[in-house]
Amino acid sequence: MINVALPKGRLGEKVYKMFEEAGYGCPDIFVGRKLVFENEEAGVRYFWVKPSDVPIYVERGAADIGVAGKDILLEHEPNIYELRDLGIGKCRMVVAAPAGFEDDRGYPLRVATKFVNIAQSFYSSNGRDIDIIKLNGSIEIAPILGLSDVIVDLVETGTTLKENNLVIVEEIMDISARLIANKSGYNFKSREINTLLERMK
Ligand code: PRP
Repeated sequence: MINVALPKGRLGEKVYKMFEEAGYGCPDIFVGRKLVFENEEAGVRYFWVKPSDVPIYVERGAADIGVAGKDILLEHEPNIYELRDLGIGKCRMVVAAPAGFEDDRGYPLRVATKFVNIAQSFYSSNGRDIDIIKLNGSIEIAPILGLSDVIVDLVETGTTLKENNLVIVEEIMDISARLIANKSGYNFKSREINTLLERMK
């Protein structure tokens, strides 16, 4: 049995469809509020978990494989194998600010973000002093209210930035969903996992 941690939400549903098309479907997976589904015949068991928790389940072996955004992997640096770029969940990690923003290098730059490690390593490689303000969502509000100068956040369509009068100042990196595996789980179940990978192609 391959245990798979799927991120709850749109990305997870898309990923599940990929597994289903590869022959690893599970009846009733979208019905009700149940969080664990299995198809014994196909040898697969799915768990719906919070997206940022996927690497925790995988790193600790509660799941053999899972799907997580590259943003979450860079932020938390779990000790896992990254098996494949699934080419979905594509977005960009950017620095954004109110239109007309000019950086005054005489002061530490106030940066609001959910991605503290990504922001810190980006600015330290640029030699820029920052004051990190860790938020958990709706990051775009921070510069509007004067809580921060800029934000470091994910942009997909750009709508949230636009509707909040923010513009991209710098691009940090491209992000996409990755298939990840527990290290010992991958070694024990390499035949099953590789068959799954092959069928997913
Ligand atoms: C994400 C991200 C941006 C938004 C970008 O937020 O943090 O706010 O999506 O998408 P867009 O470019 O298509 O508008 P999410 O919806 O995950 O909610 P959050 O504010 O709680 O982080």
